[in-house]
Amino acid sequence: MAASQIGACLTPSSEGQRTLVSKRPLYYEIDGFRLSEPFGVDRFRGAVQYKPTPDDVFIVTYPKCGTTWLQEICYLIYNDGNPPENQLKRLIDTPFLEMIGPECIAQMKKPGAVKSHLPFDRMPYSPHAKYIYAIRNPKDCVVSFFYHTSQVYPGYQFADGTFAEFFDLFMKGQTDFGDYFDHVCSWLRQRGRENIHFIYFEDVKKKGSEEILKLGRFLGNDLEAKLKTQGLLEKVLERSSIKTMKEGLKDFALNKDDPSLPEGLRAFAESNEVKTASGSTSALKFDSHLRKGAVNDWRNLLTPEMNACLEAKIKRIIEPEFPELIEKWRQHGVFEPL
Ligand code: A3P
Repeated sequence: MAASQIGACLTPSSEGQRTLVSKRPLYYEIDGFRLSEPFGVDRFRGAVQYKPTPDDVFIVTYPKCGTTWLQEICYLIYNDGNPPENQLKRLIDTPFLEMIGPECIAQMKKPGAVKSHLPFDRMPYSPHAKYIYAIRNPKDCVVSFFYHTSQVYPGYQFADGTFAEFFDLFMKGQTDFGDYFDHVCSWLRQRGRENIHFIYFEDVKKKGSEEILKLGRFLGNDLEAKLKTQGLLEKVLERSSIKTMKEGLKDFALNKDDPSLPEGLRAFAESNEVKTASGSTSALKFDSHLRKGAVNDWRNLLTPEMNACLEAKIKRIIEPEFPELIEKWRQHGVFEPL
């Protein structure tokens, strides 16, 4: 990484094999990939080098594109509409591959799905495993990612950050997990592969039943047929609603001293401990991870200039190669004038 890319006031320093590249938000790089503090070098490398088996199912997204929602939907499909007993079980049984490391796959409940935010070129790939890739329009994504970085997870040390600052980082592809456009295009270029199912946040919002049935079909093992019996589809739909999911997260806090936490989750809890002015700390709460869950909430935050800038980038990068995605977003009102 060139010093000019890091910012005039920051000298890159290496801790182990990761490099500090930004203090506000706090970002590191491991093997040229930008991540927040909790990601360890060995766990990350182990994740990238993992060799998928035919029963592995991955839910992959760029951050803030509906990962948690899809994790819940898949869990409910696999488990007769019953959610995990508690949030800790949820984090273990729908694990985050590059945060916890590849051991999480051996430790999770099966069948189940593993979360990842890796772009296609970093993702452990096998034609025999299954991948669900979720896409959300970048206008809503950048807004959601701003709240995530500035207000939900204190470990970013960006509580005083403005949306304008974050928007600039997003446009330059300098947030954690890299550039939105590279990420989405890297996966869309694989759309001929039968073992990758593309799903769109806006479609799930508009026609949840249809999208859940398609997921069931993709996951196989008669899950689509099962969804159509004994009210399972309705159960999945209701229990994956933002209202129910928020309710389930309300009282959960992740405590770094819990001895049952895998190391990646402990690092995550430690990095995001809430520190008060008096020096006391409290455990990370999860309920604010789910915010509005709306389509076109960007209208409340993007300025006309930001909107024009983002639309120009969408036009330049996505439209020539994936015009069908532009058409989909158009139908969902993403290009309605401000
Ligand atoms: P907002 O911040 O726009 O509300 P991820 O899980 O990839 O981090 O994505 C988080 C986004 O998905 C948040 O968006 C969150 O509210 C939304 N989300 C999570 N669960 C949802 C649900 N059941 N229905 C609709 N949106 C949901």
